[in-house]
Formats: sequence, structure tokens, C-alpha cells
Amino acid sequence: MKSVVTGGAGFIGSHLVDRLVDAGDDVLVIDDLSSGKEINVPSGARLEEMDIGDDRLGSVLDSFGPARVFHAAAQISVSVSAREPMTDAKTNVIGTLNVLEAIRNASGEQAKFVFVSTGGAMYGEPEQLPAAEALPASPGSPYGASKHTVEIYLPVYERLFGLNHTTLRLANVYGPRQDPHGEAGVVAIFSRAMLAGRDVTIFGDGKDERDYVYVGDVVEALVLAAESNEGGPYNVGTGIGTNVNDLFGVLAELCDYGQPAIYGPPRAGDIGKISLDSALLSRDMGWRPETGLVDGLATTVSWFRANPD
Ligand SMILES: NC(=O)c1ccc[n+]([C@@H]2O[C@H](COP(=O)([O-])OP(=O)(O)OC[C@H]3O[C@@H](n4cnc5c(N)ncnc54)[C@H](O)[C@@H]3O)[C@@H](O)[C@H]2O)c1
Repeated sequence: MKSVVTGGAGFIGSHLVDRLVDAGDDVLVIDDLSSGKEINVPSGARLEEMDIGDDRLGSVLDSFGPARVFHAAAQISVSVSAREPMTDAKTNVIGTLNVLEAIRNASGEQAKFVFVSTGGAMYGEPEQLPAAEALPASPGSPYGASKHTVEIYLPVYERLFGLNHTTLRLANVYGPRQDPHGEAGVVAIFSRAMLAGRDVTIFGDGKDERDYVYVGDVVEALVLAAESNEGGPYNVGTGIGTNVNDLFGVLAELCDYGQPAIYGPPRAGDIGKISLDSALLSRDMGWRPETGLVDGLATTVSWFRANPD
């Protein structure tokens, strides 16, 4: 099976590429290496260093002829999106449309499109948690708005051009190779700082809650989504909210870190509590998270220990 993974040199994308290569897929990675790294791409996959907004994307995709396109390339920082909404939209909206146009205009059979969206930045701060897909989208940042914009385009492409697509709304993903700048960058930031014996700052009172889902479980959801004929969107999370103070405690133990946390002012735009209900994904595709938080964090810390900066 031929698969394209945009953003395949990044954190989540590269774990997916590993999985697809192991399964015998012929994989083409499209990544501009803005935050991804060449070393993340396994030797069994081919890397095309290219912006997803590039005019040549269509011909690259057409000559490869993928059966499916996993779209993980994105501007991923909520705070960058708040500072520079145009930069965010250029990649996350216009760049994504360029990928969709490349699929639509391909000469062979149209590829299946799997869209990597966000659950953590999609629902605002709902009163009832965990949040289910039936809740209205209420993004609190340009990043969430750009992901939601693409979600609105997808059924339009389906109606007009027959695009087969599935959207996954990911919670806060963590695991080995994580870049410290993403939505769940806190695990990477804390682990790196603790292992180096540096101070660790918690912004706010540490009572903010996030739904931390292990990258291996997310990869399974992506593979299942590629086989689905449902558009979604589907949440991908554990349904469990973990606060920053508790996360600090678990990581401190795993890293043998004895210093107390330093508390700083809360950051603008950070939401209080979010966790995602994945019952729909479980019902339609049989997905459930297999890796518990402590086990997943232990694997992640071991990786950071073996791969210092
Ligand atoms: N990490 C999370 O917790 C999380 C949560 C929800 C959604 N997501 C989504 O998952 C996807 C992957 O995120 P990640 O955490 O692996 O981040 P990442 O930064 O490690 O991966 C993104 C990849 O996209 C590439 N990229 C960025 N802009 C590009 C462009 N214009 N053209 C080509 N390549 C480009 C980067 O070089 C990088 O390799 C993103 O779409 C992100 O929005 C992540």
C-alpha cells in the first residue's frame, strides 16, 4: 500500500511512518523540516523536503500515486497562532487546501484523506467533561479555528469531489521524540528539565487538567481511520483529566527529581480543563487507549534519558 504522511518527520507523523513501514507500506514523507527532523524518518521511507503549500505538491503526489494521505503537517503552536494568525492559517488552512487540491486533481484513483485535527483546542472549556463530538466547536485560538475550518471544508470536498476522508481530534499526545513546543509539550519540557536538574516552572496554580494520550495509541487510531468510510470527527483521548501538579509528581519520581516546582503567572489563552470522550471511535472502529499514563510516561522518560539534547 502506498501512503503519504505529511509532517512525517515530526513527532506523531514519524511514529505513524514507523508503523506503516513495519507493515510493509511504501511511504512518502512530505515535510519542510521546520520543526521535524530528518533523523526521525526511518530508512524504509522516502523524504521529500517540501512545504505543503508548494506549487509542486500536486505533481509529487501524482507521480507517487498514494492510496491514502495522512495529513499531520501543521503549525502546531497555540501561542504562535495567537501572535501570528496569518502564519498559522497559511500552513493550517491554505497549505491543507493545497494538499486537498493535489488529491482531487490526481490522475489516478483519489487517495483516502486522514486529517489530524485537535480535540484539546476545539471545544473551549465545556461544562461537561469528558467532551463528546456532539458539543459545538468553540475554538479559543487561531490554531483551533484553523483546524475547525479544515473540518468544515472536508464534507464540502466530499459532496463536490467525492473525497473520502476521516478526521481525528487528538487530545494531548505525548511520547518519545516529542517536540517541546506542541500542545502537550509539557511532558517533554518537564522531562528534559528534570533529567538535566534544571528548575521546572508551572504556569498558574497547576490545577489545569489535560487528557494525555500516548502516541502509540494515537498511531493505532490513525491506522484504523485510514480503513474507515466515516468522516467523523472522532475524538482520540483517554477521557481522563490529569492536572499539572500530578503530572509533575509522576515525572519527578520517574526522573529522580527532588526539587519543588516553581510557580509562575498563568499564560494567556491556556484553558482550564479538557478531556475527551472517545466512545464514538470505540463504537465505530473498536479503538481504546491501551497505554496507561504512568507506563507511557515511563517509556517517554526512558527515551529522553537515552536521547539528551
Ligand atoms: N502533539 C499533540 O498533542 C497534538 C494534539 C492535537 C493535534 N495535533 C496535531 O498533530 C499533528 C502533528 O503534530 P506533532 O505534535 O507531531 O508536531 P510536530 O511539530 O512534531 O509535527 C509537525 C510536522 O509538520 C512539519 N511542518 C510544519 N509546517 C509544515 C509545512 N508548511 N509544510 C510541510 N511540513 C510542515 C514540521 O516540520 C513537523 O515535522 C499536527 O497537525 C498537530 O496539529 C497534535
